[in-house]
Amino acid sequence: MKNIFKRIPLLLLLFTTIANAVCQNSLPDVFSMKNGRKVNSQREWSEKRRKEIIQFYTDSVFGLLPNATKYKQEYEVYEKETLVLGGKAIRKQVILTITNLKGNKIAIDIMVYYPNKKIKNGFPVFVLQEFLGNQSLVSDTLIKIISTPIITGNPEKKGIINNLATSASRGVYARRFPVEMLIDSGYAVVAACFQAFIPDAAQEAKKVMADFYGLNIEQTGTVSVWAWGYSRLVDYVYSDNKLNKYRIGAVGHSRLGKSVLWASVNDSRIGIAFVNESGCTGAKLSKRAKGETIEKMNSVFPYWTNANYKRYNGKDTALAFDQHWLVACMAPRNVYIGNAEDDLWCDPEGEFFSLKEAEKVYNFLNIKTSLPSDFIKAGQFSVTPPCGYHLRKGNHDLLTEDWINFIRFFNNIK
Ligand code: GCU
Repeated sequence: MKNIFKRIPLLLLLFTTIANAVCQNSLPDVFSMKNGRKVNSQREWSEKRRKEIIQFYTDSVFGLLPNATKYKQEYEVYEKETLVLGGKAIRKQVILTITNLKGNKIAIDIMVYYPNKKIKNGFPVFVLQEFLGNQSLVSDTLIKIISTPIITGNPEKKGIINNLATSASRGVYARRFPVEMLIDSGYAVVAACFQAFIPDAAQEAKKVMADFYGLNIEQTGTVSVWAWGYSRLVDYVYSDNKLNKYRIGAVGHSRLGKSVLWASVNDSRIGIAFVNESGCTGAKLSKRAKGETIEKMNSVFPYWTNANYKRYNGKDTALAFDQHWLVACMAPRNVYIGNAEDDLWCDPEGEFFSLKEAEKVYNFLNIKTSLPSDFIKAGQFSVTPPCGYHLRKGNHDLLTEDWINFIRFFNNIK
């Protein structure tokens, strides 16, 4: 009897390993096309299958991205080049106004930092959307406090009173923005708050989706608008000759991890997608049914995705697609996934195996990859492009350790 109890952990391990293997084996094949045939050439992948997957996610998950060509964009300088961080960096703040065909406007506060150095083709740059406004990232009182309402379902709303950011929100998310380290490593960063593109709340999002974007929230979820927002920040990079438009990495955490993956799949100007703890409908495999389920996400945040996606509620294990399809659409560009050990809602192992599956597409395209074959331990990382992954200790967040690994990966891209 005693022996059996002793063996329970071993049996459990065996069971989980087999369960994981079975799960991985039954993942929908990324190479099987809609017509039932298998992709048989690299060209067929790029010209047919990849497009088919993006079309599927457009129709059945996220909806159309707003069409950028119908908008006018103007930049107004809010803070001219200012020497900061003891003279190591230059910061500026710009207000991007986007005007639609009806003359309606939205304004986005953009904060830019780059090293105070000379460089030939501009600095490699991280493009970031964050949760509570630029003033939450840096406590400097010169940072413009975002005037767009902050109505996110995110629990950490320090200093946001009646849905508006106050001076008490200055620096509350500084831990997510190790700007000095970025500068010391030779990187520029362009940041803006996602809520300026569309609010993170059902009723308000529905209104902005219709009035400003001319879209129906049933057909297009807010993730598509946040994804479109990343592309508007990339437009800014293209307008600033201090920044290198051929070295752009886009960073998003959690709901913005989902958005940055969708953005990067759609916008080939983004050279690296840094997808941090994106979880359900991001990089996490749904079929493993670990952590957040599609139904849970859809019931709390129905406006993130389109109405068609609700068909998959309760069907996680029976899906005919899974998130490795979306990750694979990054090939041949770079994709990096960050996870935290205790963030089980995101199923870190499921995100790792999603990337492992996507790796097959890179290999099919004759691109060498270097991910380990087994899931890694907390504190370990694999930062050789084009597919990178790390697992840090701790919980759901975006921390210096995540950024250290992002920089390691970015440094490895020549
Ligand atoms: C919730 C949600 C997740 C999401 C996260 C976030 O936990 O269920 O899907 O990623 O919020 O954006 O912080």
